[in-house]
Amino acid sequence: MKKTIILLPGDGIGPEVSRAAATILRETAHEFNHEFEFHELPIGGAAIDAAGTPLPNETLDACRKADAVFLGAVGGPKWDSLPVGKRPESGLLGLRKGLGLYVNVRPVKLLEPLNGISPLKPDRLGDLDLEIVRELAGGMYFGERGNATEKGVERAWDTESYSTPEIERIAKFAYGRAENRSHRLCSVDKANVLTSSQLWRRTVTGMSSAYPNVKLEHMYVDNAAMQLTLKPSQFDVMLTTNMFGDILSDAAAALVGSIGLIPSASFGSGAPLFEPIHGSAPTLAGKDSANPIGSILSATMMLRDAFGLNLEAEWVEQSVVRVLGAGYRTPDLTGPGAKAIGTAGFMEILHTEMQRTLEHAERYGWGV
Ligand code: NAD
Ligand code: IPM
Ligand code: MN
Repeated sequence: MKKTIILLPGDGIGPEVSRAAATILRETAHEFNHEFEFHELPIGGAAIDAAGTPLPNETLDACRKADAVFLGAVGGPKWDSLPVGKRPESGLLGLRKGLGLYVNVRPVKLLEPLNGISPLKPDRLGDLDLEIVRELAGGMYFGERGNATEKGVERAWDTESYSTPEIERIAKFAYGRAENRSHRLCSVDKANVLTSSQLWRRTVTGMSSAYPNVKLEHMYVDNAAMQLTLKPSQFDVMLTTNMFGDILSDAAAALVGSIGLIPSASFGSGAPLFEPIHGSAPTLAGKDSANPIGSILSATMMLRDAFGLNLEAEWVEQSVVRVLGAGYRTPDLTGPGAKAIGTAGFMEILHTEMQRTLEHAERYGWGV
């Protein structure tokens, strides 16, 4: 299989975690005889510094032509005083919009060896395995905004707005995911206060007759945040707006131990984008302490969901779990009895484990 992959390392720990993902993809190509061609381009603060804009045309054009795009993270204190629209984060939003990506899937799954590090007691946590389907191209992120000063008083606004087709296309995706999982869909909104949420709820409800084997439930976002902490295993697929999905996915990440563990995949009309859900973690940058797992699992989502390489994805994921099972932990995961390692150490041990898994599979078959 021959694929072109664009790497957008970005800022802070972005380059460290994308290097980890690229290493895994290269190793996969090598072991399974695929040809992955990588091109690295600037985005975010790095692009502001290099080219004066967070999303240079050259970067977006290359992404449009690629088979898949991988992004590390963007943003940092150096660019924090810039206005919205000129910040590193607007480069990422422009990329999502420019590629027509309206679906963002954020799987939050407990990795078995980590069942002791959740802030929740094991019986509360249960066998947590949920998926947040976040709308990615609309809502307050892309609504009308502005600011004005009237009689010496400054005002600023951002508007939440959704059209029926925008809701339908993301809901269709979420129903599809629910059909392939445990047939439960929880649509999150604030329909007791927001008119955009009332349209959201009406539209999602109106589609339910086309999915008779999916049990649809609606939940207000404040309750959803509370229920996530109280009894997260009640959820399977959660359907959210852009803003609510951003917030709830960080909250859900904490339940399984660290935001550094959670991957994401975005789909739409253009090339799919894969990125961990965490940010640039500026205080960790250059300290060899970023957890690369969210990034690595974003790479396995690329293998599986963009390229259909299920066995390859499985190989990497099983190896990650085995490394954790052997007690190795980056600083965000440490606890009693853990073998503390940095990003580079984790990658070395993962490499060894991947080789071992491969040899074992060659001898005895996969999944034995
Ligand atoms: P953050 O996700 O960068 O960090 C939140 C907390 O999680 C910090 O304590 C951080 O140290 C920790 N953390 C994050 N990733 C980790 C990892 N891989 N391993 C271990 N610990 C990790 O969020 P923030 O601090 O709110 O934002 C920092 C910058 O990142 C801001 O400029 C923000 O706009 C940007 N941001 C970018 C993205 C993205 O590029 N996708 C996402 C979120 C935030
Ligand atoms: C995320 C991030 C982004 C978002 C920012 C950096 C634009 O927080 O991917 O979760 O809000 O979507
Ligand atoms: Mn976020």
